[in-house]
Amino acid sequence: MSETNLPFDEKFVIIKQISSGEKLKKEIERSLTNPQGFWDEKAEAIDWFKKWDKVLDDSNKPFYKWFKGGILNISYNTLDRHIKTRKDKIAYIWEGEMGEIKTYTYYQLYQEVNKLAKIFKEYGIEKGDRIAVYLPVIPELPITLLAAARVGAIHTVVFSGFSSEALADRINDCEAKILVTADGSFRRGKIVEIKKNADRALETTPSIQKVIVVKRTGHEIEINSNRDIWYKETIEAVEEKTYVPPEPMAATDPLFILYTSGTTGKPKGVQHGIGGYNVWAYWTLKWAFNPTDQDIWWCTADIGWITGHTYNVYAPLSLGITSLLFEGTPDFPAKDRWWAMIERHGVTILYTTPTAVRMFMKFGEEWINKHDLSTLRILGTVGEPINPEAWKWFFKVIGKEKMAIIDTWWQTETGGYMIAPLSGIDLVPLKPGSATYPLPSINAEVYDDRGQPAKTGTKGFLIIKSPWPGMLQTLWKDPERFKQTYFGRWENLYYTGDYAVKDKEGYFWLLGRADEVLKVAGHRLGTVELESALVSHPSVSEAAVMGKEDAVKGEVPVAFIVLRSGYEPSEELRIELIKHVRATIGPIATPDEIIMVNKLPKTRSGKIVRRILRAVLIGSPIGDTSTLEDASAVDEVKATYEKMKKKT
Ligand code: PRX
Repeated sequence: MSETNLPFDEKFVIIKQISSGEKLKKEIERSLTNPQGFWDEKAEAIDWFKKWDKVLDDSNKPFYKWFKGGILNISYNTLDRHIKTRKDKIAYIWEGEMGEIKTYTYYQLYQEVNKLAKIFKEYGIEKGDRIAVYLPVIPELPITLLAAARVGAIHTVVFSGFSSEALADRINDCEAKILVTADGSFRRGKIVEIKKNADRALETTPSIQKVIVVKRTGHEIEINSNRDIWYKETIEAVEEKTYVPPEPMAATDPLFILYTSGTTGKPKGVQHGIGGYNVWAYWTLKWAFNPTDQDIWWCTADIGWITGHTYNVYAPLSLGITSLLFEGTPDFPAKDRWWAMIERHGVTILYTTPTAVRMFMKFGEEWINKHDLSTLRILGTVGEPINPEAWKWFFKVIGKEKMAIIDTWWQTETGGYMIAPLSGIDLVPLKPGSATYPLPSINAEVYDDRGQPAKTGTKGFLIIKSPWPGMLQTLWKDPERFKQTYFGRWENLYYTGDYAVKDKEGYFWLLGRADEVLKVAGHRLGTVELESALVSHPSVSEAAVMGKEDAVKGEVPVAFIVLRSGYEPSEELRIELIKHVRATIGPIATPDEIIMVNKLPKTRSGKIVRRILRAVLIGSPIGDTSTLEDASAVDEVKATYEKMKKKT
């Protein structure tokens, strides 16, 4: 691959000489020289019912086993162990979309989790059973996860914006016994029919025996009296101070499955284990942000994604800090909702996405200036590359040029941060758009396409050379796909699927996906999933979906489709197809454009040449077309796209 122009302006490189980085360098060196010794020491930070026999069992690569022989329970580490020292400390402040505020102390959370755990047991949940969760961000969401973990069940959260079809697929893949859901949720003041979606999914999910329904909106819904039970009434019937002993779990037992998009087929069930994940969650948050007892931590992610799992539930509660949870969107009821929330709750750490930052840039500073944000001390971003303009704006307007921006690179599969500035160890000078260095014990490298370390400053593939405690254990019931996807390209090297560049000071710059995965407003979507959704409509015979740059969302999906005979391109059909994709996957997958063409550019062996479609989209030279089966397809696609652009 050729040398790349790094996406930053050299003059702006070193914003602040914060430290020499010596301390960090030493910690990194120590962790890489003796990873097992390093983790043997670090794992003592959480509580174990029985200490591990072996830090890392790598006898069956790449199925690594961390803290083998160790026994623990993550609900103990997030709740019970705080009861003596911070019983009355606020664990969660929750703000609902309609402005309601609820708080839970560690003790209140502990009590509620115990009650729900009791109910799970009464419904026959045993160690290893799966519990599916389809809830908006309300306190019952983390309560459900912790109660599942307490009884040794494996939870699988399905983002509440996903469709009934997506929910059914996930429930069926892991054969969940219980579903915890809600009557509805609020989005921009309107009711989202969560239970109706769940009911549709439940028509095809024979494994579900009970459905626990949280009353959130209070609107009328159908209740199936053989199957559905109301959360509140059931919890209220449980005796006060109920105690369910936390199930002793092996460190290597699974904690949760979280489905995420890949390059082929259906979403992958990323499986995380208990011990390694708990240790990783604890240390990554401590290293990156160093939250203390005085902090109010606000990670704006939905708990339906990995960021919410790790940094709204397991990491902050393991550290015993106070977190803010919110339901809704940043611009409802007004464009200053977030800034008002920071002022109202005294938020000290704001951890959000580049998409949100770009959205606020667009809204204008007047929304921000109305509020006192003086409690903030540090900022962070996650989910997609942050462009230097957005970084600088965040640093200047929100950070008042005083606060570090912790740009955290990681993935559903990695469990927690992998590359990020570490204010809890030693904050190195920041460069806008770079996530700085890999964390201790993360042996990251950039490879060229021949599997050799890429030259400094040259774009290549980001790989991780050694295992780390937070890494996924496998893909649920699909060890072959796990091996193939992550360790298939280069043996024993974890393939991230991301492009990166390492600069001459060893800083990493993450440059987006190297595969057919999109990041739309930070949400991960496979182009194949979108294509399957489109061709499942009777009018579509072929579809090719790709990402197009977007000033706010980073990228948006664009679809080129060929219609079946008997169908004509029309505005009505375009709208219907958009509706169809939203109903099949969910609103986050809404195509930004649908371009209806007579044929797609293909090779003689029938493969769609995406490079050409991409060139049409961005208006760059088409390049070589000699391998195409029918070069006239290119002119047709180009002409259709240009005509469409003119109309809009
Ligand atoms: O492409 C990278 C991008 O998000 C992908 C992982 O997506 P997901 O599993 O949904 O997890 C998102 C939250 C961790 C990565 O492969 N990504 C994530 N963080 C960053 C990023 N790209 C650049 N910079 C980041 N900080």
